[in-house]
Formats: sequence, structure tokens, C-alpha cells
Amino acid sequence: MASPHTLTFLFLIFTNLLLFGASSSIDHGYDDFLECLTDQFQRSNSATDIIYTPQNATYASLLLSQNLRPASSLLERPDLIVTPFHVSEIQAAIYCSRMLGLQIRVKSGGHDYEGLSYTSAATPFVIVDMRNFRSVTIDDKEKTARVQVGATLGQLYYTISRKSRTLAFPAGVCPTVGVGGHFSGGGYGMISRKHSIASDHIVDAILINADGKILDRRSMGEDLFWAIRGGGGTSFGIVLEFKVTLVTVPETVTVFNVTRTLEENATEIVHKWQYIADKVDENLLLRLFLNPANSPTTGNRTISASFTSLYQGRTRDVLPIMEEHFPELGLTEEDCIEMSWVESLLFFANIENQTLDVLVDRTPQGGFGSSYFKGKSDYVSAPIPVDGLREIWRFLLEDEGSSLQFSPYGGVLNTFSESETPFPHRRGNIFMIHYGVGWSNLNESQARIDWIRGLYSFMARYVTQNPRAAYFNYRDLDIGRNNQGNTSYDQASVWGLSYFKNNFRRLVRVKTKVDPSNFFRNEQSIPALAS
Ligand code: FDA
Repeated sequence: MASPHTLTFLFLIFTNLLLFGASSSIDHGYDDFLECLTDQFQRSNSATDIIYTPQNATYASLLLSQNLRPASSLLERPDLIVTPFHVSEIQAAIYCSRMLGLQIRVKSGGHDYEGLSYTSAATPFVIVDMRNFRSVTIDDKEKTARVQVGATLGQLYYTISRKSRTLAFPAGVCPTVGVGGHFSGGGYGMISRKHSIASDHIVDAILINADGKILDRRSMGEDLFWAIRGGGGTSFGIVLEFKVTLVTVPETVTVFNVTRTLEENATEIVHKWQYIADKVDENLLLRLFLNPANSPTTGNRTISASFTSLYQGRTRDVLPIMEEHFPELGLTEEDCIEMSWVESLLFFANIENQTLDVLVDRTPQGGFGSSYFKGKSDYVSAPIPVDGLREIWRFLLEDEGSSLQFSPYGGVLNTFSESETPFPHRRGNIFMIHYGVGWSNLNESQARIDWIRGLYSFMARYVTQNPRAAYFNYRDLDIGRNNQGNTSYDQASVWGLSYFKNNFRRLVRVKTKVDPSNFFRNEQSIPALAS
């Protein structure tokens, strides 16, 4: 936390800002920003070795991203990256950016699908990289955690597991995803049918607003606190920390990954899955991965349907549930593996041969970070007929790098009203579709993107409409396309209604109140209404 000296100083600079306005022209460049920041840091006794320009050897590694596509497009890279250790340094970055008319991009784990935390269509801009704000403190008596935004999910899971075998947290499966973007935008994982999503567990937060003020839940008020639990942090300020409630899981859980190909009735099995996935015992989450593959029996191209699942209990208890509700899969005792909840995270991240320490490694796993990627999402409220599934297989077989994930909803997700938090995807959804395509040759980008757009367009007949819903954390700039860096209300309402349904209007009201000058913005940020 900032010293009294620093606070006095910051009060003075923000008073200055209010008096003289933030209207400085965009002509000011990075040199001015650097000078401003260095000046602020000297006055507040802050470090100056947290500013990186392209001349620094580590600049490139700081920009290394999970997905090569955003940085390969026409979007610009920043000339400055700031990696603060102290709140006063973040406040100074906000102050200097406002004074000089620079945009800020906030990066926690850097997994944004469109790279909005580290690229921008509008220049000039700087990155505030929150990697040094990454402490995790568990209170096992209170069953809560204080998690700074630069921590990764893996680090949170690891730290919980050091305290208890039965405490857990319901968030995503990729250990290198950052808390900052993930928690503020939702956060679905393998225990979400029983325990809902990460943002539903936030009970307090610390955020710095556009005036540099440090706010907690009480001082920010319930409207802003509501907005950052699913509406994304980036439109409202820089989040420093979340306090979340932990959940209780059994000491032993059961996992399995059963794959069926078209020759093994995958089409009929997937069809049946849609009738039970959201209704079966909420301790059981059967996630479905669909990929083109070679048939192990015939060698022909086929579709592999992998039912990757977690049951919060023992093998002996899940087998009869599967036999009653989903005998078509033919689950056997040999398919099931019992382990602790934290070990299951290694299983789902495909790193089960490694020790738990790998969870604190921030290096992307499984090819992420070395390839180009485009993702999209949809919600399904009525089962897709067999003919439709066959058409989907035809699409998947066209592209080697294609994959679909069907993530089941239902369970406790149904018990929240659509407006309880900005995340509106509750009762009525059977599952969410994640469309993905990955490739390694830059020259193929347009063809691969055209392919995924073609599939998405075909799927319109099978998914939710008016609005066609999408998951905010699977950010997709194709929705209400606007790459100009300024978000008009009409453009924004296309993706706003997809991600947030009617909650979009409340998000706009909150934004207009807390950041009327629209300082915190990106290509898909909540717009502020002109007064
Ligand atoms: P990043 O740092 O890129 O931030 C994402 C957005 O949040 C940006 O707009 C950024 O400006 C903003 N932001 C970040 N920190 C902020 C802060 N401190 N204050 C204000 N704004 C801030 N999702 C899911 O629900 N379940 C899953 O299992 C997975 N799995 C998964 C795997 C992989 C490989 C990827 C690439 C992504 C996922 N996701 C996911 C999606 C993930 O939840 C989503 O991309 C998150 O926004 C990532 O958060 P990061 O902090 O890592 O991203």
C-alpha cells in the first residue's frame, strides 16, 4: 500500500488533473509519458526499473502472448510496458496516461482471445502489466481467499491445495489463465455445475478508478461491485485484488476421459448427451471435446468425441449414475481414476505426469503461445438434431486444426437470476459451444478465420437468438465488429447484448457514472453515454 507521503503526492497530482483536465492532445508521445512517469516515480520514491521500452532486452518476453494472432494483425504494439509493484506506480501510470491522452491496456494473465490486454487498434497506448501483483492468501477457517489479479489459476489452485484437500475453487481448467480477466468476466470450470463460476464467488474487490482512487466494495458501492463480477474489469478501472469464497469438495473425486469415434456411434452418443448433460446429478460434469482424427480401426478420417468428466465422489457412485442416465457411453470401472481435486486439474490440463508444482509455472502449456488461434462461442437451449451434428462433422473434417467444446450448464447455474450478476447465461441453457481453430503458418490466417466464420454462420439455426448469446471470456471481435478503438452505443449494443443480455444497459449506466470520460476503454469496452 502507498506511504502517507505518496498518498499526499498522489492527491496533489490528481487534484491537478481535475483542475487542468485530461484534455491534453494525443500528439504527446511516449517520451512525454516516460518523462512524466519517471518524474512521478522519483517524487514518490518509486522504482524506475519497471518501465520497459523496445530497447530493453526483456520487452519482447513481456509481450509474449498465449496466441500469436492478435499481435500479427495490423493492431499496434505498445512502446511502453509498465510492470508495477506498488499501487502508487499504477496511480502514476493512470495519471500520466490521462494527462497525455494515451490509452491504457491492463494485462493480468494475457489470455484474452483477441489480445485486448496487449494490443490496440488505437494508438498511442501503454500496457500496465499486473504480473507482480500476484499474492494469494488463503483463510481456511473462513473458507475465503484474497487473490491478486496477476496470480494465475494454477497458483490459486496450488496454494489452496497446500492448506486443505477439501477446499477448492470453481474456475477454469487452464492453469496459466490470469485471475484479473478470468474472474471479472465469469470463469467456468469442471465443478461449475455444482459450484457455479468464479465471478459468483467474489465477495470483495480492490480497484483503482480513473481518478486514481483506491476503492473496496464498500467505497465503490454495489453498482460498480456488481459490474466487475462478470462485466469485465477493464471498462471500469484496474482491479488489484479479489476476495472470494472457497467451496468444499470430497477428498476423492473421479475423473474419466472416454473417446468414441463415428465408427463407435459417436453421433448417436453425442445426440443423447444433449438430453442429459444439464440434468444429470450436479456433482457430475461431462464436458465434450470434438475433433477431426484418424480412426484407430480403419485409419480413415473421423470425428473423435471425448467425454472429459469429473465426478465429485467415488467411482462406485458415478458408475450407477452413468448406467442409469447415459448407458450409451458404456463407462467402465477401468475408465475411472480416483484422485484429489487439485490432481484432477493436472489431468484436465493434460499434464498429469507432472508434479503439482507445475501449477505455478506461468509458461503456456499444450502449444498455446506458439500458434495462431481464433475462438468463438454460442449457447444451445434445444438439442441439435442428428442431421445438424452430421453437418458439424463435415465442417470439422475440413480443417485439421479445428475443435469444438460443449460445456454443460444446468445444476446450480440455474439457481441464479439472469440479472444477479452481469453474467446472464443461466436457466434454459443446455450447454455452451466453444469453437476453436489453431494453425502455425501465418499465411493461412485468412483461410482459417473464414472457416470458423463459416461454421459459426451455419450454426445460427441451432443456437440462441435475439440475442445470439456469447461468453464474454471467449472474446470475439467479430460480434458487432468495430476495430476502431471507439465504441459507439449502437455498435457496442450488438456484442453487449450477446455477452450480457439486458444487463448491458445497467453496465452502461454504471460505466457512465464511474468513468464518464471513457478513459478505460478498448475495442469491446462498455460505452459511456454522453451527458
Ligand atoms: P488478460 O490479461 O488478457 O485480460 C483479459 C481482459 O481483462 C482484457 O480486456 C484485460 O484488459 C482485462 N483485465 C485483465 N486484468 C485486469 C485488471 N486487473 N483490471 C481490469 N481489467 C483487467 N475461460 C473459462 O471460463 N474457462 C476455461 O477453462 C478457460 N480456459 C482457457 C484456456 C486458454 C488457453 C485461454 C487462452 C483462455 C481460456 N479461458 C477460459 C478464457 C479466459 O477466461 C479469458 O481469456 C480471460 O479473460 C483471461 O484472463 P487473463 O487475465 O489471463 O487475460
